Amino acid sequence: MHGRGAAAGCIIARRRDGAEGARSRPMDKLRIEGGRRLSGRVEIAGAKNAALPALAACLLTGEEVRLLNLPRVRDVRTMLRVLEQLGASVMGPEGGHATVQAERFASSEAPYDLVKTMRASVLVLGPLLARHGHARVSLPGGCAIGERPIDLHIEGLAQMGADVRIEHGYVEARASRLRGASYAFPFKTVTGTENLMMAATLAAGTTRLSNCAREPEVVDLAVLLSAMGASIRGAGGEEIVVEGRESLRGARHSVIPDRIETGTYLVASALVGDGVEIAGCRPEHLEAVVSDLRRAGVSIDVGTDTFHVRAPQELLAHDLETAPYPGFPTDMQAQHMVLMTQALGESVVAERIFERRFMHVGELLRMGADIRIDGRTATVVGPRRLTGAQVMATDLRASACLVLAGLAAEGVTVVDRVYHLDRGYEPMEAKLRLLGASVERVR
Ligand code: UD1
Repeated sequence: MHGRGAAAGCIIARRRDGAEGARSRPMDKLRIEGGRRLSGRVEIAGAKNAALPALAACLLTGEEVRLLNLPRVRDVRTMLRVLEQLGASVMGPEGGHATVQAERFASSEAPYDLVKTMRASVLVLGPLLARHGHARVSLPGGCAIGERPIDLHIEGLAQMGADVRIEHGYVEARASRLRGASYAFPFKTVTGTENLMMAATLAAGTTRLSNCAREPEVVDLAVLLSAMGASIRGAGGEEIVVEGRESLRGARHSVIPDRIETGTYLVASALVGDGVEIAGCRPEHLEAVVSDLRRAGVSIDVGTDTFHVRAPQELLAHDLETAPYPGFPTDMQAQHMVLMTQALGESVVAERIFERRFMHVGELLRMGADIRIDGRTATVVGPRRLTGAQVMATDLRASACLVLAGLAAEGVTVVDRVYHLDRGYEPMEAKLRLLGASVERVR
């Protein structure tokens, strides 16, 4: 949702090939018959939040960048449209792979119509400015989960010598060549870290970024940039040092598995799983999530790139707060809350990253949950019997939480506004059906 609480329109991306999975139509809903036990194997897709900065990084070179393991989700298609609009040629996505070549720019503008549907379009700001010398990117505005300004991205670029103005709802930045600078983020921002790291790869001299976000997606971006010839040290830690280069070259890169999709299927299995294998994931990226589930009494076997999960007889309540990586991800908070509705006892969930991220609570209450909100904390009392209802998705992760609630509920749940879910999850109805759930997409 964007525009300070206004409902976002549904962008229906043009079909590039027949293999890219279901496209959401504005009226799509998921109909879930709860109470089925899940078993079998589910394959995890590439990480949306790693794919989006990787696609933006393609703007840093005139040569071809081949990206593998892109998830079949709407945000990826939106980012490809942003790149095409800027003049890049795009081949794919086909089978999860795409090749992007930004030989020359047709425009330096990421327009409102695209940015309002996906805040992460702001990731083109740093690369465009660094390589093209000019960028005009619509300010994303607020969204369903908070105001989410990009002031730190702008402040960092200004430190690197950019002339930045905000006019007519756009941030417009110019610099004939960015220069290396030291910038300390006052607090952690994931896309802010990524934007400045990308910009610094083509700046003159050394850039030192401190208090950086440590998320695996930042590290994955650094791996791609290094393959493109950038010199980056320290990604994954709090201080990142980038020696600027005159130019970068083409590369080939496979995007890391999606830790939030993995976590979502972990919670589904913890709720109603009779032995689920979650395959093709990176367990080391989910330590906080696994430890949360273990505290709830869930049995999880960790393999090299798999999890085996079984729901316990009884789930146990415990308190939790979200935090920047390696803490518990805010993108898993709504899913954790569904788990706590089924757990014995009272649990407090504190949301520390975003100021309005309890939009799912109202819908969970309609399904029979017992949750009280007090500012940025929510208290859940469980276990409560959930019953199927018609519910409305409000943002990406809230939609996932309603699907999970539907799996655990008695009777039929219909989740409306599934286009939120399709922004960041490969079709959940297909993956869940393979595990034995009764989920279908209806209009
Ligand atoms: C990224 C993820 C998103 C995840 C979030 C937190 C992508 C594409 N999205 O979003 O899924 O929920 O990290 O893990 O990777 N802030 C400012 N000024 C800024 C930048 C951020 O005030 O310039 C604030 C935000 O409002 C928020 C906090 O900082 O309260 C953290 O936000 P940030 O890490 O930037 O989130 P995103 O990068 O937008």
